[in-house]
Amino acid sequence: MRKNLDISVDFAGINLKNPVFTASGTCGYADELSPFMDVAALGGFITKSISLQPRKGNPTPRIVETDAGMLNAIGLANIGLDRFLDEKIPLIEELDTAVFVNLAGQTIDDYVAVTEKLAKIDAIAGFELNISCPNVKKGGITFGTDPEQIENITKHVKKVAGNKPLMVKLTPTVTDISVTAQAAIDGGADALSLVNTFTAMAIDIETRRPVLANRTGGLSGPAIKPIAVYLVNKVYNEVAKPAGIPLMGLGGITTASDAIEFILAGATTVAVGTASFPNPAASAQIVEGIENYCVEHGISSVKELTGALN
Ligand SMILES: Cc1cc2nc3c(=O)[nH]c(=O)nc-3n(C[C@H](O)[C@H](O)[C@H](O)COP(=O)(O)O)c2cc1C
Repeated sequence: MRKNLDISVDFAGINLKNPVFTASGTCGYADELSPFMDVAALGGFITKSISLQPRKGNPTPRIVETDAGMLNAIGLANIGLDRFLDEKIPLIEELDTAVFVNLAGQTIDDYVAVTEKLAKIDAIAGFELNISCPNVKKGGITFGTDPEQIENITKHVKKVAGNKPLMVKLTPTVTDISVTAQAAIDGGADALSLVNTFTAMAIDIETRRPVLANRTGGLSGPAIKPIAVYLVNKVYNEVAKPAGIPLMGLGGITTASDAIEFILAGATTVAVGTASFPNPAASAQIVEGIENYCVEHGISSVKELTGALN
């Protein structure tokens, strides 16, 4: 870190070296990222979603590039809680960064069971509650669009999260995201992350079939960035700032300048997802770029930038 420059942030009571995370589902459990960059350069790392039972995910093809972003319908494929505890926690214990575990489930009991076990593990800094995956048939999206269910699931998971902060990840596929954000806060969320992917479709005009076996998928990458920035700014102004709840902004962040847009819009932290596929070191480069921006603009603490939109 440069002299006279502080890029640390306080996020829901956790002190982070810098505001940059990697987004859930795009960098595995950190083992996939470590050959390409020093994971300790990050403010934090978010694991792939973990569910109580292992999940195979959806049939292939489940990823397709479009002209304007990536479409995926992975369907929360993951190794399940038991293997996560045996195989991945030892790796996580070695990481010198704040690790958030992303929680997935089909019922409230599933989410509670996973959280209860993980709450006892010191190496985990916090949780991200995924109630917004568009690619699973049950659970997922229905939780994420109904304010009553959001408040309820947040309340149940918060009860067993111990002293670890609970961040709720919001779907953009709703009429008014401030309503769902407020529901999560009412349920006891310590932070909100937004956004998850946008439900979308690509069609093969020769076969006249959807390209993805699941028919639809979630659109991510630069195509969604301006919408995500708008949604972060809306939630910040209407709900999060008045309630004193910090936001993590994500959706199409590829460069430090993208990250700064989200921070000016009201995010305290940011997460880098799809950009890590073509450039696995993107998140570390974004940390450096944020430092450069602060130096060039005479900013001594990155905290000054949150919500500093004129
Ligand atoms: C291949 C892929 C897998 C993903 N898996 C998960 C997941 O397991 N849990 C989750 O909460 N979000 C998941 N996401 C959503 C990302 O965390 C992020 O919200 C979204 O991609 C928008 O950010 P981006 O445009 O920077 O990728 C996934 C996204 C992609 C592209």
